[in-house]
Amino acid sequence: MASTRDTPHLLVLHGPNLNLLGLREPAVYGTQTLSDVNAALETLAEELGVEVACRQSNHEGELIDWLHEARERFDGVLMNPGGYTHTSVALRDAIASIDKPCVEVHLSNVHSREAFRHTSLTAGVCVGVVMGFGLDSYLLGLRALAKRCLPPQQAPAQRKKPRAQRS
Ligand code: DQA
Repeated sequence: MASTRDTPHLLVLHGPNLNLLGLREPAVYGTQTLSDVNAALETLAEELGVEVACRQSNHEGELIDWLHEARERFDGVLMNPGGYTHTSVALRDAIASIDKPCVEVHLSNVHSREAFRHTSLTAGVCVGVVMGFGLDSYLLGLRALAKRCLPPQQAPAQRKKPRAQRS
């Protein structure tokens, strides 16, 4: 897809330990690697007419610096904050400070896991959260974010079956 100034630029941030996807607790997080996730996001981005820049860090400060960069350089953020979801006031403050829509995603359904995962410090400053669907959490999150960032005439239409085909 040719990039134009009208093409929304979206930042995808993966937090700590997500570099080990595919190796780390596959029963919880699946066998797909981070490269697989990023490749699927890039394919969908092309289909939707947006651009994605995918980055991963194990360091809170680096994630915060990238969020600050989004103030000027990106139109929205798709983020899996990993374990920082449950602990980081600083990450929450960074999301709140950028004035760009942020969608939080999780591979696992954190509410079906340990109690300490039931609290998200970051969700309250995001426009929405998708969790529990593995790679599809990211893809659903990207669809929702793209829809917010694309001009209305370019946003994917809600497909409705013709009335006769509805059961
Ligand atoms: C996670 C859930 C977090 O609780 C955990 O610390 C992660 C991954 C997920 O994608 O399911 O690192 O964000």
